[in-house]
Amino acid sequence: MTDTPSARYRVAVVGASGYAGGELVRLLSQHPAVEVTFLGAGSSAGRTLGEVHPNLASSPLASMQLRPVDDPAAVSAAAELAFCCLPHGASSSLAPSLLDDGAKVIDLAGDFRLEAGDYPEWYGFEHPAQGWLSKAVYGLPELLGEQIAGAQLVANPGCFPTPVVLGLAPLFGAGLIGEGPIRVDGKTGVSGAGRATSESTSFSASDGSIRPYRAPLHQHTPEMERALELAAGVSSAVVFVPHLVPTVRGVVATCYAPASAGASTETVVRCLQQAYSGEPFVRVLELGEMVDVKRTIATNTVELQAFVDPRTTTLVVIGALDNLIKGAAGQAIQNMNLMLGLEVSTALPKVAAYP
Ligand SMILES: NC(=O)c1ccc[n+]([C@@H]2O[C@H](COP(=O)([O-])OP(=O)(O)OC[C@H]3O[C@@H](n4cnc5c(N)ncnc54)[C@H](OP(=O)(O)O)[C@@H]3O)[C@@H](O)[C@H]2O)c1
Repeated sequence: MTDTPSARYRVAVVGASGYAGGELVRLLSQHPAVEVTFLGAGSSAGRTLGEVHPNLASSPLASMQLRPVDDPAAVSAAAELAFCCLPHGASSSLAPSLLDDGAKVIDLAGDFRLEAGDYPEWYGFEHPAQGWLSKAVYGLPELLGEQIAGAQLVANPGCFPTPVVLGLAPLFGAGLIGEGPIRVDGKTGVSGAGRATSESTSFSASDGSIRPYRAPLHQHTPEMERALELAAGVSSAVVFVPHLVPTVRGVVATCYAPASAGASTETVVRCLQQAYSGEPFVRVLELGEMVDVKRTIATNTVELQAFVDPRTTTLVVIGALDNLIKGAAGQAIQNMNLMLGLEVSTALPKVAAYP
């Protein structure tokens, strides 16, 4: 008697020719419970996966052709769940049709992360699907897992808000953060800007340079504030200054907050260790240990480090992750695993290569 393979969930990756989409396809092709049945793209439609991502030339999906996404019905006919890895604004045009057809959607852009009134100011467009926006669940699995499990539409968090909210939410919950704004200093590698070439992210402009960008109006600022409210029930103002650094992958976010009277290095580290003790993808470092983004590259792990500076009564939390994995594709698969009732860590890498 031969074993019949059990039915697998059919999934689509729209924006498969981009950096986040490419990493999604790479990880999904090793997922035992899903089958990638649709790859969508813009200008790369008609080419094969192996042509647009030569690193995937040996993947079983290498010869699959990328298709245009001008017919949403073709996407929802092919798949029960779609990942939208499109530029901001494009996802909120496409996703409503897929959702109306009954598909589940995980959006990696910022199109479903904020409230409708925030979009003109922070993203420069009026939100076209406010009904679906109000149903979207913010996809931070460690803090909002129950809501994600029952969602049809998940807004995958941004790469900077992920370490910031994971680092701060439990400390707010434990009363270890006092009154006052949170200051966040961010560093990102150039892949955070996507695959399209631009002068500002070119080798010539980036190599040997470290420079701030889009401060104080980066769109992750209101996302951090809203996510802290969703995850910890606090209303907190955030000042955020991101910097571009000359590396390909990786994000480090250093958060400075007023320490409350009961906060010490010991209490903040123990609080984070307790909050994430059963979580496979959050590594809280011991007292005195320092994060290193290199240990997170190509993994779905986020490293968190925390301490209190008693001289200035400042609480510092530092988070590091791979922007394309825990900051995008890996977290999206973690959300998918929850939405489909699968074991949450299925097909997600935890162990980094080093050096
Ligand atoms: N890069 C990161 O670290 C990161 C982290 C978290 C979230 N995100 C978010 O994830 C999304 C994708 O980011 P990315 O870095 O992968 O960008 P990317 O490398 O520039 O890829 C963009 C993708 O969207 C497709 N596309 C663009 N316009 C389209 C259109 N009108 N119709 C159909 N397809 C279209 C492109 O197809 P063609 O190339 O074939 O035209 C490409 O596949 C963005 O919203 C980004 O903010 C990115």
